[in-house]
Amino acid sequence: MQKFDKKFDEKLLIRTTGIREWREDTPYNRTESTPYMALETLFEKYKLNEQDQLVDFGAGRGRVAFYIHNQFNIPITAVELNELTLDEALRNKRGYRSHASHLEAPIQFQYGYAEQYEVTEEDNKFYFFNPFKTEIFEEVVDNIVESAEKVGKEVDIILYYPMPGYKRYLAEKTDFTLVNKVLVDGMKDKREKFLIYRLDPREEEQAE
Ligand SMILES: C[S@@+](CC[C@H](N)C(=O)[O-])C[C@H]1O[C@@H](n2cnc3c(N)ncnc32)[C@H](O)[C@@H]1O
Repeated sequence: MQKFDKKFDEKLLIRTTGIREWREDTPYNRTESTPYMALETLFEKYKLNEQDQLVDFGAGRGRVAFYIHNQFNIPITAVELNELTLDEALRNKRGYRSHASHLEAPIQFQYGYAEQYEVTEEDNKFYFFNPFKTEIFEEVVDNIVESAEKVGKEVDIILYYPMPGYKRYLAEKTDFTLVNKVLVDGMKDKREKFLIYRLDPREEEQAE
């Protein structure tokens, strides 16, 4: 798997391997990239289209952002709180752009707290690989729901290696429904999967 990740990085002219822990005790989780093999499996079964716009909450070194941009040429916003990690992501952006200049969709890295990110009207896909504790996830989800209701748009939340607290919050405290489960082939760890949750406030309105 590590070999595959390195090879894929070379193809995209980026460096996204390795782990970075926070030095102090925080509600924020460490930097670690989603395996490329997992992303390959997900996007064989789940497609994005040109109207989509994705936010990666806790972008790490940007692997998911670059991978999706390269596959689908859609606008990506990647929010990251760790300054060292963000610097690496920005360095990666220079490498990536040097060979992907023909893909005109923007990729934007933002320094800051995911929970303070202002969801734009066009953002409709939201990616999480366990960036932080459930309490922060709840705040971010509430911001997504507020935007979906205000604009009247369908939104998807994509969870990789989903934490029980995340699943519980979506199932018990929101109107999101689980629409897709993508298992990563050959993985012994049952948590190596993606769950995709969808909310469409327009459907709820019609049902009332
Ligand atoms: C497990 S990594 C995921 C990286 C990337 N999304 C991927 O899947 O390849 C989670 C990242 O979230 C960042 N993070 C943690 N808390 C955050 C917060 N409140 N706002 C923004 N980023 C945060 C961490 O620094 C870390 O780099």
